[in-house]
Amino acid sequence: MIYSILMEINRNTIIKDLIESHPETLAVFRKYNLVIAGGVRGPNEPIAFFAKAHEVDYDTLVKELNEAIEKGGGEDIEIPMLEEDKSYEKFVKTAIILTLTVGVTFGAIMLSYIAIKLNFNSIYYALIQAHGHAQIYGWVGLCIMGFALYIVPRVKNTELKHRDLTNICYGFAVIGISVRTVVQPLPYSTLRFLLPISAICEIIAIFLFAFIILRTILASKEKVGIFDKFFKAGISWFLIATCMNLGMNFYLYKHALYEIPKSFFSPYVHLYLFGFVFMFVFAINIRTVYAFLDIKPVREKAVNLTFWIMNISIPIYFITHMLADKNIVALRLSQAMAFPIGFALFTFVYGLRIFERSTKELDDVVMDRSYAKTIRTAYIWLIVSAIILLVMPFLGHGTETQKRFHGSLNHAVTVGFITMMIIGYASKMIPTFKGINMHSIRLSNITFILLNTGCFLRVFSQILVGTSGKTIFYGTMGTSGWFELAALGIFGYNLWKTMNAVQESKPPVTKKLTEVTKDTKVFGVVDQYPDTLQIFLDFGFSQMADPVMRNTMGRVATIDMATKMHNVDIDKFLKALNEKIAAKK
Ligand code: HEM
Repeated sequence: MIYSILMEINRNTIIKDLIESHPETLAVFRKYNLVIAGGVRGPNEPIAFFAKAHEVDYDTLVKELNEAIEKGGGEDIEIPMLEEDKSYEKFVKTAIILTLTVGVTFGAIMLSYIAIKLNFNSIYYALIQAHGHAQIYGWVGLCIMGFALYIVPRVKNTELKHRDLTNICYGFAVIGISVRTVVQPLPYSTLRFLLPISAICEIIAIFLFAFIILRTILASKEKVGIFDKFFKAGISWFLIATCMNLGMNFYLYKHALYEIPKSFFSPYVHLYLFGFVFMFVFAINIRTVYAFLDIKPVREKAVNLTFWIMNISIPIYFITHMLADKNIVALRLSQAMAFPIGFALFTFVYGLRIFERSTKELDDVVMDRSYAKTIRTAYIWLIVSAIILLVMPFLGHGTETQKRFHGSLNHAVTVGFITMMIIGYASKMIPTFKGINMHSIRLSNITFILLNTGCFLRVFSQILVGTSGKTIFYGTMGTSGWFELAALGIFGYNLWKTMNAVQESKPPVTKKLTEVTKDTKVFGVVDQYPDTLQIFLDFGFSQMADPVMRNTMGRVATIDMATKMHNVDIDKFLKALNEKIAAKK
């Protein structure tokens, strides 16, 4: 029999602790669809944050929770084991493996080779396209598919449809991406037939993904949100890009070629990034950023404007860029398309309020916010990308300078914005998905510094190579890939450890704590009386805000040690704690 403790609910009450102490509250959370997240014991999230993130009025929620507790379920109610939804895990893990092998590692080697040769054309373009495909489908595509399978049902308050098809979707995706990445640069004509087969595998995977997500969105009884159309547009562009990919592979096979013409491949990459990836990222940002960063909800007019400008501009951008080398009108139009797209990106930044002051609604809520800087920095890189995009029409079409700016734009978008966003969201969402904490906040911070250093060196050195051609900038550019590889390697390790961590179920309480003495372990006090946490914070034990510290140091440190370490008056502190506990009896 688990010992349950009457628990006073406050804004910092951790949901999984409350469920543990009062299993009868589960029904209330289910009503607000809050609990089908976060491992077998529920989410490791403060109630106030969850209420904001799920647009539930905090006071109403607490009132209903207290009513459920008063009605009680009785001490002998069993704590249900929630179903941990791991639909995202294999997608995210495979994305990490692919980017750390054929993605970033390969990219870093290519970049160093270009730097040594002082020549961007020294690399066999089929290798670059294989790297590009592995990154846009393998790293970004699989991450977005994994996250979407987890997040879309939750933001749409419904169950994921056709869950059984996700494995088939995953299988075809991984086969297709791996075969394409390996076979495209290989000089063996006997293997070329595998190219169209790889594209067929990818098209099956992405049609399955689209079917699952669209069916889930359409099955929802939730009111249609402004983000819905971004999801649907993203899926449409994903399907269009994958059909183009099929066409490109048949073209390579039929004409026994190794490289897809750059005039088609480069605008196709932008159609994939601006269409599929941006629409999905924007949809998830619109739905979650205001709670993650504690800012006001989005400016709907502005994000709607972005939606229409982007989705009207993308096909024009693609067609005019494809024809730009052959037709002056198409060239001028392709140059002009930079302006509506640039404007749409700035409008979205304004609409999302990403750099605006916090509403302070969650100021009193104790939680890890280390992901916030990563999400904001991603938008700084989006602004850098928009500025490069707006400069490019003024550079001579097809010149080396323009080509270097194009490469910098790609990198600012794919690494600065998209990869940074993936890391920011993964560091926030995956611990939430699992109901635990990120393996190491310190490693997250190291990843942040290394990735920004590498991206900064790459984007600006490549621009300086384009404008000055100076050797030194080839040097700094050539090192940048290794910073990024280290960053993604550390992130991959940190996230993998987090995904493999098991949420410990609370050890049954052996002895009920009736009085806190100087020899009592800090962990035991907060574990048995969670609302004493505020007293610890009031007496200046700020690190107690960090659940990892509570779980580690707290199990070792006694009240005596802690008060000595922080120069706190032990008598006053013990009195405050015991008064709180006595009030519970
Ligand atoms: C993080 C480390 C990375 C390194 C060191 C790297 C390196 C490179 C290099 C050297 C090139 C060829 C030169 C150029 O076009 O500028 C290239 C092209 C490309 N990269 Fe990466 N890359 C990295 C990350 C990414 C990511 C995260 C993505 C996508 C999500 C990506 C997608 C591409 C694409 C699509 C191209 C071909 C662009 C075109 O030809 O139009 N790369 N990369």
